[in-house]
Amino acid sequence: MKFLQVADKQDMARKAAGIIAAQVLLKNDSVLGLATGATPVGAYGQLAKWCREGEISFRDVITVNLDEYCGLPETSPQSYRYYMNENFFNQIDIDPANTHLPDGMAADMDAECSRYSALIRSLGGIDLQLLGIGMNGHIGFNEPKAHFVMDTHTVALSENTREVNGVYFENPADMPTHAVTMGMREILQAKRIVLMAGKEKEAILHRALEGEVTPEVPASLLQLHPRLTVVFEGGK
Ligand code: GLP
Repeated sequence: MKFLQVADKQDMARKAAGIIAAQVLLKNDSVLGLATGATPVGAYGQLAKWCREGEISFRDVITVNLDEYCGLPETSPQSYRYYMNENFFNQIDIDPANTHLPDGMAADMDAECSRYSALIRSLGGIDLQLLGIGMNGHIGFNEPKAHFVMDTHTVALSENTREVNGVYFENPADMPTHAVTMGMREILQAKRIVLMAGKEKEAILHRALEGEVTPEVPASLLQLHPRLTVVFEGGK
């Protein structure tokens, strides 16, 4: 594991963006696994800036996102498709057809989960997976529970997650109860993982990286990954 401790959120964004840019420069048709949440917004902004300046191109890149809420159309500003379009895809030269998220509006969610797992396999897996971490140690929407779930699946969101993410909804009661997320095997099979965490995540990050490997802290499984880079806003 490589641990990069950075001074502030801007530094965290630049470091993570630099690692992603290096991946794309070395392999222009990289499969990037992407995350949402507040943490990676700055990194997306930095990458978009480098793209506008001609430093990097996403023309041949393929993206697969970690997760999506169930029941929110992509026109909803709280949906992860909307977030990705706004914060990243609409600002870079990627082919929109190469950007993938699970469909939280699918009529048959089991079929949708199988489709998404098959898509990831058909792409040959993920070259670089960007992750944030939930306050309860979730990655994607793999919530703490008694066992790890391997492949893409629907999940009932925990009380903690509904409370933390509910702030993005005008009426917190509109916060979805379910989501669809990549499973732990799909995440862990990524060739390289970059985990970003702000200083407010210090306690859970410590537990995940130095505590027991347990499905009660899903991010703890990352300890087993051979190419994990953590970019942590720890101050200096
Ligand atoms: C959300 C997402 C995760 C994300 C996490 C942390 O629930 N499903 O993929 O990593 O929360 O979000 P934030 O960066 O806003 O703290």
